Amino acid sequence: MSNKNKFFKYFKEYEWSNIYAMIKNNRLDPKICTDNFNNKLVVITGATSGIGYHTARKYASHGANLICVNRNIQKSEKLKNEIEKEFNVKCDYIIADLCILKDIYAVANHLSRLEISIDVLIHNAGVYLTKKELTPDGLEKVFAVHYLSSFVINYLLTDKLKSQEKSRIIMVGSEGHRFAAWGIRLDDLNWDKRRYSGLKSYGTAKVAQLLSMLVFNDHFKNSGVSIITMHPGAVKTDTGQENGLVYRWLKKNLLDKTLKSPLISAEALYFLGASKDIEAISGKFFNLTTEEDPAPPAIDREVALELWDKSLTITGLKS
Ligand SMILES: NC(=O)c1ccc[n+]([C@@H]2O[C@H](COP(=O)([O-])OP(=O)(O)OC[C@H]3O[C@@H](n4cnc5c(N)ncnc54)[C@H](OP(=O)(O)O)[C@@H]3O)[C@@H](O)[C@H]2O)c1
Repeated sequence: MSNKNKFFKYFKEYEWSNIYAMIKNNRLDPKICTDNFNNKLVVITGATSGIGYHTARKYASHGANLICVNRNIQKSEKLKNEIEKEFNVKCDYIIADLCILKDIYAVANHLSRLEISIDVLIHNAGVYLTKKELTPDGLEKVFAVHYLSSFVINYLLTDKLKSQEKSRIIMVGSEGHRFAAWGIRLDDLNWDKRRYSGLKSYGTAKVAQLLSMLVFNDHFKNSGVSIITMHPGAVKTDTGQENGLVYRWLKKNLLDKTLKSPLISAEALYFLGASKDIEAISGKFFNLTTEEDPAPPAIDREVALELWDKSLTITGLKS
């Protein structure tokens, strides 16, 4: 379907009630799970800051062992010492830059060789860039970190996860997927034909994540593996620190003042990973812990399958 036809298709599918629901859900607190998670294994990407950091602590405080996938060795060592000392669990880490395909493959291979089960896998690492950057593989960076890293890891872990009794994948998505209001441009994933915008590239990467969830959900049917995507709330973290002075000033002096604590994100991510209440739910999007309908471009199955095929090619999985 042409980009113009997609525009009209999505335009007709938009419903105001979904926007009202989002606004209403944004005000809700997350549901709380108090169950323990003793001796379970949780893998989480981007645990050195913000939402990932608080989520790692939350799972550890309930007895889970962790493998954190981080890019910074000093921060990882500090996190390991802090968590192991405070909660008496194991907190290992893998160092990887999740915008680089070689590193993403290394993480996937490491995890797929584990002899123990991965109970929860949380794709959390992310960046927000106001200016376009390309990775050493020539890919747009936001798309690579948010989407391609989770795609490759989920894909290469499929057999391992299916061989376990059960497992849950949680992708930290965003209401920001709604910024890509007219969908993902499969003919221009690197933003060569259009003006790059931070909001749109971020929205596109989050739409891609949601689209991949649809296809992974089909692949995991009746296997005991579930996959969900969640919006962690609008919370105060270190996001955007790679951007210029003006952005950082505005974030610190204006935006941050409106944001909530990332402890609510950690609470929600614990509920979604550990609660028996949603054990049977897969292929759904949550605003914190409330199920919500994503925007039309993020539920377009035709595009989801095209993106799947393209992702296999871009990442070298097809060969
Ligand atoms: N904050 C919000 O309001 C909000 C709203 C909706 C969605 N989210 C999503 O929440 C997730 C976490 O974001 P945050 O707000 O907690 O931001 P953050 O404080 O900047 O944390 C991002 C984490 O990702 C890691 N990371 C970034 N690029 C990486 C790379 N190339 N390879 C490996 N790790 C990388 C960072 O590592 P370093 O510590 O080394 O920088 C950090 O640990 C993201 O997916 C974001 O899109 C956030």
